Amino acid sequence: MKKNKFYISTPAYYPSAHLHLGHTYCSVLCDALSRYNKLVGREVFYLTGSDEHGLKIQKNAEKANKTPKEFVDVIAQTFKDLWELLHVDYTRMIRTTDDDHVHAVEEIFSRFLKQGDIYLGEYEGWYCRECEAFWTDTQVGEEHLCPDCHRPVSTAKEEAYFFKTSKYIDRLVKFYDENPEFLLPEHRKNEMFNTFIKPGLGDLCVSRTSFDWGVKVKENPRHVVYVWLDALVNYISALGYLSKDESLFKKFWLDGDAYKVHVLGNDITRFHAIYWPMFLMALDIPLPDKEYVHGLLMTKEGKMSKSKGNGINPIPLINMYGVDALRYYLVREVYFGTDGQFTPEQFIERINMDLANNLGNLLNRTVSMVNKYYDGVIPNFVTNKNNPYDAELDDTINECLRTYEYHFETLHATEAISEVLKMTGRANKYIDETTPWVLAKEEDRSKLDACISHLCRALYVAGVLLKPVLVTKADLLLDQLGVANREYKDLTNEHILDGLKVDKKDQLFPRLDINIEVPKIVELIKGGK
Ligand code: ME8
Repeated sequence: MKKNKFYISTPAYYPSAHLHLGHTYCSVLCDALSRYNKLVGREVFYLTGSDEHGLKIQKNAEKANKTPKEFVDVIAQTFKDLWELLHVDYTRMIRTTDDDHVHAVEEIFSRFLKQGDIYLGEYEGWYCRECEAFWTDTQVGEEHLCPDCHRPVSTAKEEAYFFKTSKYIDRLVKFYDENPEFLLPEHRKNEMFNTFIKPGLGDLCVSRTSFDWGVKVKENPRHVVYVWLDALVNYISALGYLSKDESLFKKFWLDGDAYKVHVLGNDITRFHAIYWPMFLMALDIPLPDKEYVHGLLMTKEGKMSKSKGNGINPIPLINMYGVDALRYYLVREVYFGTDGQFTPEQFIERINMDLANNLGNLLNRTVSMVNKYYDGVIPNFVTNKNNPYDAELDDTINECLRTYEYHFETLHATEAISEVLKMTGRANKYIDETTPWVLAKEEDRSKLDACISHLCRALYVAGVLLKPVLVTKADLLLDQLGVANREYKDLTNEHILDGLKVDKKDQLFPRLDINIEVPKIVELIKGGK
């Protein structure tokens, strides 16, 4: 990615219930990508949102004895509170009830009508209430189950507007041929083609008359705009598309110097990979550069989901273990594109292994040695030519800088972060190889200078590189090294730390006792809290 601006979006989550660890994963992942891009100097627009219309919300509001707007106001606030707690530093959280968004949806629907992309017809077919989607006979199969959520579907008939997918299907297929890396991981493309395109994609039903909580079709207000057409538009309405001020839209969407990524879970690939590109084609607007489909977090009962009520609440985990530990776990443990399973054992083990034993241990040992052997002042950086371990650690650090950047540039946050911990792991081993306590006894200052300055450098590089994930503790680590310059561009300067005064503090990542912590987390999860 050679561009100077970066636009990234999470899905606009449904405020039908509180968010769980799965949504947390997606937003933290996007936040790490967004912070990395800021770190390397790009201008970033990080969009998140709340998808507030539709039957599901209307029903949940009725159950709660509230108007839909009252209902979503409360839940949307809990989204904001959660993002604040997690240090998710978004640029805008759009709500699909925001005036500018509603205006954009109305205008887009009218334009599609005028252009003949949308026509009025009648729909009769299988309907999934949960997904608010109509399906064909083939898609629901003999058991009449929704292909997305696997719940039973029922037949439904209503007057409805349709979007003419047939007008854009050839362009879409051509687009995928020419842009094989648009949708990642690549196997998702085959899945979309085999499941939806090859069997024949029907026109998409884009209005409903069975309820009224939504954006009204101006030309025929008995209809509300289908929640997916409404929701997808958030990706451009949030930038001011069709508003009085389109400057952000020009800057982060139209400008060729902006790289645009949608991050989404594999439960909603179809809408993003098929319909959203078609809508953009109909609007004559460029497509995003990338759609990045992440896997889902599972529990023993299957996918964590709001409607099943089996989602793990992230808040007690943050309160008990801190925002950095949870963010680190999510980014490090769940490999992009594959489903992940949250287990309390893995959570504690990951914190202990990487943060306490590896990074935290390196910090404690190093700062203690600077205090002990150098009165707290970091010696000037020097490489001892006679010590092969020095050159090896130099290579490891430089390699880490290269691979970290490569992985983040290709949106692989897990791999990028793993490289940093690999490097600090190597630095810990370097302590055992060079035995600084022996060097100190031998009073061989030049060897000891090389050793200690290398360890400080390894920590410094790790501290800056981990900032996108360890949003509070990376800075605390760098505070202990006494370094004010935390600029990515200066990381190759080996002399930044020369002569700085360290400031030893309590352990950043105390080791957790797995036998004590696991039962605590099990209890939390059991409560569904
Ligand atoms: O689908 N593991 O909203 P939603 C990981 N409003 N991520 C998960 C997850 C899990 N178990 N469960 C949910 C909607 N997610 C629509 C989106 S966008 C124009 C409209 C994450 O609240 C994942 O990113 O059901 C998934 O795609 C998204 O939340 C769905 O959120």
